Amino acid sequence: MSARPVLVVLNGPNLNLLGEREPEIYGSQTLADVEALCRARCEELGWELDFRQTNHEGVLIDAIQEVRRSCTGLVLNAAGWTHTSVAIRDALAAVVAPVIEVHISDVHAREEFRRHSYISDVADEVIVGRGVQGYVDAVDAVVRHRS
Ligand code: DQA
Repeated sequence: MSARPVLVVLNGPNLNLLGEREPEIYGSQTLADVEALCRARCEELGWELDFRQTNHEGVLIDAIQEVRRSCTGLVLNAAGWTHTSVAIRDALAAVVAPVIEVHISDVHAREEFRRHSYISDVADEVIVGRGVQGYVDAVDAVVRHRS
């Protein structure tokens, strides 16, 4: 087991296409760029980073269950599942550490169906519309919610 705090960042479906997919909405930075930003912030904090993406809902639920007791904080961009998944919400409710929900775009200023999140009321903080900087802000939110 690691002695250092471990920040877990989980990304849902289609976020592997970041940089190519709808760049007018999500920008031109890739998921590898996002990982590098998170890693740099974690290194400043002396934390480890566990950064993952999946297009399979059950894989995301297994990942949440796997880290639910061990992680220092969980940052989640559940992408499209945000608006559909009671099962992901239920998994998050079992996470001991602070949970920060992140969306690159401003989901409240887009289609009506994006305004509802199944996740927000089990998250400790919700960050939307700050582009990929939102992930770095989410790491800092974990720091705040831990203290
Ligand atoms: C998103 C917003 C979701 O509505 C969408 O389905 C995504 C990305 C965001 O980061 O802005 O895939 O979570």
